[in-house]
Amino acid sequence: MAQNQINLINLDRMFDDLAQNNWALSSALFTREFCQKLAHECQKLYAEGALQKASIGHGANKGVHAEIRGDFTRWIEESSATPLQQELLSELQLLLQKLNQSFYLGLKRFEIHFALYPPGAGYDKHIDNHRGSGARKITFILYLNENWQKGHGGELSLYEPDQENTLITQVEPHLGTVVLFRSDLFPHQVEKSFQPRLSITGWFRDDAS
Ligand code: OGA
Ligand code: MN
Repeated sequence: MAQNQINLINLDRMFDDLAQNNWALSSALFTREFCQKLAHECQKLYAEGALQKASIGHGANKGVHAEIRGDFTRWIEESSATPLQQELLSELQLLLQKLNQSFYLGLKRFEIHFALYPPGAGYDKHIDNHRGSGARKITFILYLNENWQKGHGGELSLYEPDQENTLITQVEPHLGTVVLFRSDLFPHQVEKSFQPRLSITGWFRDDAS
C-alpha cells in the first residue's frame, strides 16, 4: 500500500478555514504528479466513452438535462478501481477520518466521480444536499486542468448560504486546486467552460451504504 501523500500541514490550514467559514480552498493538498496522473486517466476514460452524461434529480424526477448540467461522469468504485484510483480512495478515506476527528461529523463513507465538462457545458446554480435526504455533508472537488487560463471559463461560483445572489468567490479549476464546503449550505454553479474541464467531485456522507 502506497504511503498517504496528502499534505497534512495544508490540510490543517484548510480545516481552520472550514471551521471558520464552512468552506475552504487549497492549491497544494496533493502532489502535482498525482493530479497529472488522475487527469490523464480521466481523459483516457472519456476518450473511451466510459463517462456518461450526468443526470439531475432523484427517483421519478431523475433525468439528463444538459442545459442545466452538461458534464459527463464516472463513479470511482472500490471494486473496479485502478491502482491510481485505489490510491485516491485511500487518500479520501484518510480525509474522512480527519474530518471526523476535527468536526465530529459522524461521516461513514464517501462517493466520488470523475467529471468532464465538454466545451459549452456548465452546471446551473444548485445545492448538493438532495432535498429530503441530507446524507451528503461535505463536498470535495479536485480540479485536474493543467494550463487553465482566464478565458477558458469554467469557474466554480460559490454563493452565500441563504443569499444565493451574493457571490463569495469564483474558483478557477487549476490542476491541484481542492475545494471543500458544507454540502447543505452553499449555492454554487459551474460557469460555462470553453475548454474540456476535468475534475474529481465527491461527497462525504453520514449514512451507511
Ligand atoms: C457538482 C458541482 C462543481 C465543480 O458536481 O455538484 O457542483 O466545480 N461541481 O465542478
Ligand atoms: Mn454541486
